[in-house]
Amino acid sequence: MSSGDLEQRIAEVREAFLERAAAASTPSEIEEVRVAFLGRKGTISQLFPSLGALPADGRAAAGAALNALKAEAAEQLEACRQRLSDAASDGERRAVDITLPGVYHSVGHPHLLSIVQREIEEIFLGMGFDVAVGPEIETEYHNFEALNIPAGHPAREDWDTFYISDTLLLRPHTSPVQIRVMESTEPPVRIICPGRCFRRDAQDATHSPTFFQVELLWIDEQLSLANLRYVIDRFVEAFFGPGYETRLSGDFFPFTEPSVQLHMREPGEESWLEIGGAGMVDPAVLECVGYDPETVSGFAFGFGLERMAMLKYGIRDIRTFLANDLRFIRQFRPA
Ligand code: PHE
Repeated sequence: MSSGDLEQRIAEVREAFLERAAAASTPSEIEEVRVAFLGRKGTISQLFPSLGALPADGRAAAGAALNALKAEAAEQLEACRQRLSDAASDGERRAVDITLPGVYHSVGHPHLLSIVQREIEEIFLGMGFDVAVGPEIETEYHNFEALNIPAGHPAREDWDTFYISDTLLLRPHTSPVQIRVMESTEPPVRIICPGRCFRRDAQDATHSPTFFQVELLWIDEQLSLANLRYVIDRFVEAFFGPGYETRLSGDFFPFTEPSVQLHMREPGEESWLEIGGAGMVDPAVLECVGYDPETVSGFAFGFGLERMAMLKYGIRDIRTFLANDLRFIRQFRPA
């Protein structure tokens, strides 16, 4: 064989090798190609002995070409193996399709009443009120006496109360929290108190034996009903939106003097809706908690949380709040 023949042969073997290497698509096929070309009896290995038969002047060049082919072949096979293992891990990665939507695990969300309660708290916090809490099981003293409703007073009849014992009851309103806050705080006082209340009311679309009220109390110097009106109007505007009107009319509560009833009218509506009772805190109540009615005055306001939610969200039956029907509850996810 001349060196030209050998070089020709090297070129052919190289072609054949590249073709087979390109076609190998599994590790064992790559191994087969390796054995076929670089193994002890492989096509490339078998070219080496022919070097010895070459005339000296062509041997160096042909040897270099052969060595280059051997190195190239080994490199190519290594590249094939690498490509294959990259593709395999690519495949593994693709086994989890990250473009699919995730599996939704519901962790629930606050109930509409909680959503509305927080919304109301935010509005009043923004106006400088604190949020106070009081017990649901209340003393007769805080619920009645301190609110200027002595034993035997006909106003006790207004709240068909659930008694726990002779002196403890399930509070029928949040007004006793006014007393608790004033007992423990010096004026000025500016709080709201959302909380659960209980009354021996027969259940219907607008009554429930358990419901939520929000109490508001502001005690300071020189407050008047005008301030109350302003606070209510700002609240209604923030909670419902612009265009709602409010109206006060005379009422009676033993713990406020004068007492008023608050009404609200939706934009474009004829009729007024009652939203709660309010009034200037009665001097007898201020005295009872040790405040001086000559120097401080203030107003209180109590309204139903469900009623606010019903008006805002167009809910017609108060019983749906506590029916635990998920079809209802899920309609009101917080934003
Ligand atoms: N506590 C009263 C009720 O439940 C409402 C009210 C609160 C009235 C504060 C005046 C002042 O009916």
